[in-house]
Amino acid sequence: MSYRVAFIRGDGIGPELVESALAVLDAAVDFPVELIEVQGGAGAYLEQGTAMSAAGLEVIRQADATLKGPVGLPDVRLPDGTEAGLLGGVLRNGLDLYANVRPITLLPGVRSALRVEGGIDYVIVRENTEGLYASRGKGVGNSQAMADTLLVTRAGCERIVRYAFELAAKRQGAPEDGVRRVTCVDKANVLRSMYFFRSVFLEVAAEYPDIEAECIYVDAAAQALVMSPLHFDVIVTESMFGDILSDLGGGTVGGVALCPGGNIGTSQAYFEPIHGSAPSIAGAGQGEPTQSDPRDRDDGRLSRRTADRRPYPRRGTAGASQRVSAVEFGWDSNFRYQVGDHSGDRSVGVIIEEGKQFPWDRPRKHRAC
Ligand code: IPM
Ligand code: MN
Repeated sequence: MSYRVAFIRGDGIGPELVESALAVLDAAVDFPVELIEVQGGAGAYLEQGTAMSAAGLEVIRQADATLKGPVGLPDVRLPDGTEAGLLGGVLRNGLDLYANVRPITLLPGVRSALRVEGGIDYVIVRENTEGLYASRGKGVGNSQAMADTLLVTRAGCERIVRYAFELAAKRQGAPEDGVRRVTCVDKANVLRSMYFFRSVFLEVAAEYPDIEAECIYVDAAAQALVMSPLHFDVIVTESMFGDILSDLGGGTVGGVALCPGGNIGTSQAYFEPIHGSAPSIAGAGQGEPTQSDPRDRDDGRLSRRTADRRPYPRRGTAGASQRVSAVEFGWDSNFRYQVGDHSGDRSVGVIIEEGKQFPWDRPRKHRAC
């Protein structure tokens, strides 16, 4: 049986990353994978007038899984000033991929900017189809004022919270104390939409008495992710909060270049790095997934200063997050996604896991439990 994996090279540093991820796929599986390239992003917009054609979207819809490089270029804009190459609206909303799942894990050999030796291992479950970004392309106003609306629906909230609890049920709990915990990050003290989000969270939490449920305001969460990251297991939050906090989390585990993201729906999923296209370093081979140094800025780039400690062999020129994305989802049985209409769990990650032909050692787990 052959699996259909669509891939989008994307913009800037994207093609290097995707090339690297495809090398992993090639090395890791011992069964047929049919690769189908789909044009997408700012380059596609310039060429064909749309960041993703209807035909391309259909290929992704039919695929077992999709690997996506970062897309968008700062100078390629729509008349309203927003970037023309982004695919969030098309893919996340278009395919109803409601769970943006972002593991924040300190990998072996990577030095954290924080004073921790290891152990950071939580997942941000970012609501992906509503929240403030539901206003994508729909803001209203004029030359004097603009407004975007933050939307929270009961159905949208219930399903993302449930996703978070189901994920926590499969994990081993927070590194700090082994307690299975879902943390709702909101701003319920100020916004009615956020109070609603929290209320629905608490309702759903009651269905999971064995999992600790807690709520924390987003500003306090930003501090806690720096001061006590080992406390966290699964975090569930609105889209913009999750967008911001996942980059913050990335900054604590070696940089966003090491952070994969899965966009998961009920029958499709795509996997991508959480960072942007970093056009300033495109083609420079600077995305090598080796050791990062907390002094470095990170936008898909990692430091080579301590390259002797690199946890991964060099393959291709780049691809930390994309490669980790392809592999991390396979390493961890917490990430078994139903993708496509095959029976059983099928995704790029699971395909890799089934392949068992890892070209390097599996990383050790940071915690014992
Ligand atoms: C991300 C990115 C996107 C988002 C942008 C590029 C639209 O920042 O995936 O985190 O905000 O969702
Ligand atoms: Mn982001």
